[in-house]
Amino acid sequence: MQDHQSGHQRLTLSDVQRPEYLANPYPLYHRLREHDPIYWDEEMHAWVLTRYTDVVAVLRDPRFSSAWGPVETAWMPEDLRPQLEPALRAVSRQMLFLDPPDHSRLRGLVARAFTPRMVESLRPRVQRLVDELLDAVQDQGEMEFVADFAYPLPAIVIAEMLGVPPEDRSQFIVWTQDFGRLLDGGNLSFEELLTTLSGIADFLAYFRRQIAQRRTAPRDDLLQALILAEEQGDRLNEEELLGNCVLLLAAGHGTTTHLLGNGLYALLQHPEQLQLLRENPSLAPTAVMELLRYDSPVQLTSRRPTADVDWAGRRFKAGEEVLTVLGAANRDPEQFPDPDRLDLRRTDNRHVAFGHGPHFCLGAPLARLEAEVAFTTLLRRLPQLCLATEQIEHLPSLVFRGIKALPVTFASVLPA
Ligand code: HEM
Repeated sequence: MQDHQSGHQRLTLSDVQRPEYLANPYPLYHRLREHDPIYWDEEMHAWVLTRYTDVVAVLRDPRFSSAWGPVETAWMPEDLRPQLEPALRAVSRQMLFLDPPDHSRLRGLVARAFTPRMVESLRPRVQRLVDELLDAVQDQGEMEFVADFAYPLPAIVIAEMLGVPPEDRSQFIVWTQDFGRLLDGGNLSFEELLTTLSGIADFLAYFRRQIAQRRTAPRDDLLQALILAEEQGDRLNEEELLGNCVLLLAAGHGTTTHLLGNGLYALLQHPEQLQLLRENPSLAPTAVMELLRYDSPVQLTSRRPTADVDWAGRRFKAGEEVLTVLGAANRDPEQFPDPDRLDLRRTDNRHVAFGHGPHFCLGAPLARLEAEVAFTTLLRRLPQLCLATEQIEHLPSLVFRGIKALPVTFASVLPA
């Protein structure tokens, strides 16, 4: 697009997919925020917001909806509809895509089964898993951090929480990939959408069997806690229960993988910060929050106003998509002094990597726990941890920011 005032090529959000901005989108976000902090993007057919104050204000404003609206099934091939329609309906009942009062009811029920105390009780198990993943690479002196560590860790944690037996884990991991693609929005081809929904249909069938088993032989896991909520009357029906199991997987896996990958990459590029954390493991909670701000796994989310809204001199029409760019808000100099500096001691770090307002990430305590244990253990057990290549590729996504592969080398793996 041509900028008529300056005569320069005008940058838009879609430019994030150009190789130079995929590697580092933050200069692009700065340009957008400085020149056009609220603009209508013809290509994305959406408003794009890059200022911290706007992002936070939209996310907590009840005039903006997260709802999907009625589920459309006309596009589905006739023969696949009986299988795909229930999958799509269950997805549409995820709390992420609901507004109050349905949202508050569902979130309250899932939150009861997903308390910070319950998450904290997982710490010893997360520590054991982290140690086992490092033990597995101890004789190699190298690993591909994403495949060997960042990918399996959150998948195993959430699978165990939901009570998936170890023998079903690999299938479960395939499903989590399907769901992650669904949340990536516009990037899906028609065939991929069909594959994804049919994966979700298989997942629902699997969980229906798990639920039936637990009704006769109760167990002590998150799925059982959700079943109890369902059995207390009509407050959580089976479709909602299943839809939200899908969400826990989809929202909790790829995002945490990206936090681990982006976080380690940032540390390796800032050796003095890495050393600081290595020498002061008690910094881990603050450090993880800074890594989340610095290179956020979820770069944007969206809302739609239910009626026309006048906003800082612009008019968002009812139903128009409004993209809140979390990754840009997290680098806004008005909110974060020296925003492009990685500062593991940064305080007053009110980043929006977990969103803001009523849909604030329900899994934030779990993601933070996993990252704290992972980074402190990695730095303690792997001396001379280094990048094995300068050629790091990012995923081609506007929504998620993650690294495809992160090969690293190390001197040895010290005992747990
Ligand atoms: C919501 C980010 C990990 C479960 C969200 C939202 C963001 C986010 C930005 C809000 C989306 C919106 O407002 O449209 C992240 C990041 C994670 C992470 C960056 C890891 C670093 C997890 C984990 C779980 C989880 C581990 C659970 C196992 C959820 C759920 C919601 C959510 C259930 C929906 C909450 C609602 O709609 O009320 N997450 N998430 N997330 N996240 Fe996370």
